[in-house]
Amino acid sequence: MKARNSKARYCTSRLCGIPKYLLWAVLGLAVIVIVVPIAVMFGRKKPSTPKGTVLVPLYVYPSPGAWDPLLIAHATNTLHHDFKLTTTRITNHPRLNFTVVVNPASGPGLEPTPDSNYTREIPKLNQHANVRTVGYVSTSYTNRNISLALRDIETYSAWSENSTIAGLGLQGIFLDETPSQYQATSAKFLDTLADSITSQTGLGTDPLIIHNPGTIPDPRYMRSANLTVVFEGAYSTYRSHGFHKTMTAFQDSAHAGRDALACIVHSLPSTLDGHALTKDLRSSCGSAFITGLSKDYYASFWPGWLGFTDEMAA
Ligand SMILES: *[C@@H]1O[C@H](CO)[C@@H](O)[C@H](O)[C@H]1NC(C)=O
Ligand SMILES: *[C@@H]1O[C@H](CO)[C@@H](O)[C@H](O)[C@H]1NC(C)=O
Ligand SMILES: *[C@@H]1O[C@H](CO)[C@@H](O)[C@H](O)[C@H]1NC(C)=O
Ligand SMILES: *[C@@H]1O[C@H](CO)[C@@H](O)[C@H](O)[C@H]1NC(C)=O
Ligand SMILES: *[C@@H]1O[C@H](CO)[C@@H](O)[C@H](O)[C@H]1NC(C)=O
Repeated sequence: MKARNSKARYCTSRLCGIPKYLLWAVLGLAVIVIVVPIAVMFGRKKPSTPKGTVLVPLYVYPSPGAWDPLLIAHATNTLHHDFKLTTTRITNHPRLNFTVVVNPASGPGLEPTPDSNYTREIPKLNQHANVRTVGYVSTSYTNRNISLALRDIETYSAWSENSTIAGLGLQGIFLDETPSQYQATSAKFLDTLADSITSQTGLGTDPLIIHNPGTIPDPRYMRSANLTVVFEGAYSTYRSHGFHKTMTAFQDSAHAGRDALACIVHSLPSTLDGHALTKDLRSSCGSAFITGLSKDYYASFWPGWLGFTDEMAA
């Protein structure tokens, strides 16, 4: 290490002859002219990544412990790292919201309530303010018998009214396989389901209605949904899609905000860290989910799950 100021007492610099006040004045001027504008430029608040919600297709069977990765992700993302916050603020302002699709049997199943593994685990999710559970209902591109879809919705609604099991109530419905091409009969089908969902007493005061066309739909369908899954597919498809451009164009043409859009990407290559992908999805979609699984995508958690939720909360 060099000795500092070894020549301090023997001024050899050409500046030595100049009076000190002049040096200070020049220095002061330099600070005002150069340093201040730069500091203002860099100090300006960076546009922060917008808030995101994790949309979890939780088709995982709730064997004891099987849903723990979700509860752990929830717990780590509930606590702010800012320890100055009061406890109340921590509980009222979680860093990240989760919308969890519960799916016992490609629907609620034929019994009035699902089996005891579900009735044990669902209330654990429901006790958290930043978790919203919604029930899976199949529509088969509106080719399903509508009475059966309506019956599924009513069954989910009745869960919350079961006096022997507390905390089972859901707060919305996920309608799977909704069409993308517009047809008046399909629109009517989806409107009828939406009316049923909002008129149920057992789905909370403001149920969330999700459509899953898995691709960009005719925007007219979006009127009867709060959230539409506009992309569900493999990472390779996402890559070849010109995703960002397509989404931006769609948002402009459909006047759809990112809060109304969800994106699901599966089959991430194991070599890929999800950082850039998550960032890209968040810029277009208010709700997102990614998984490295390339089959039975939603039947278990993948190794990158916790990293993904951290990224969503960042
Ligand atoms: C709950 O899950 C366990 C483990 O998968 C299973 O052995 C058990 O039969 C399940 N209980 C019910 C009521 O289905
Ligand atoms: C989570 O959801 C609540 C209630 O819907 C909302 O007020 C809050 O802003 C959301 N938080 C984030 C981080 O999105
Ligand atoms: C409540 O749940 C129990 C256990 O699943 C079931 O036997 C009963 O029929 C349910 N009651 C109602 C009103 O749905
Ligand atoms: C639709 O389902 C209802 C209730 O199970 C049944 O009564 C009706 O016959 C079915 N309609 C068709 C067209 O299959
Ligand atoms: C769903 O959309 C309806 C109609 O726009 C709105 O009134 C309701 O508050 C929304 N609910 C949620 C949970 O976003």
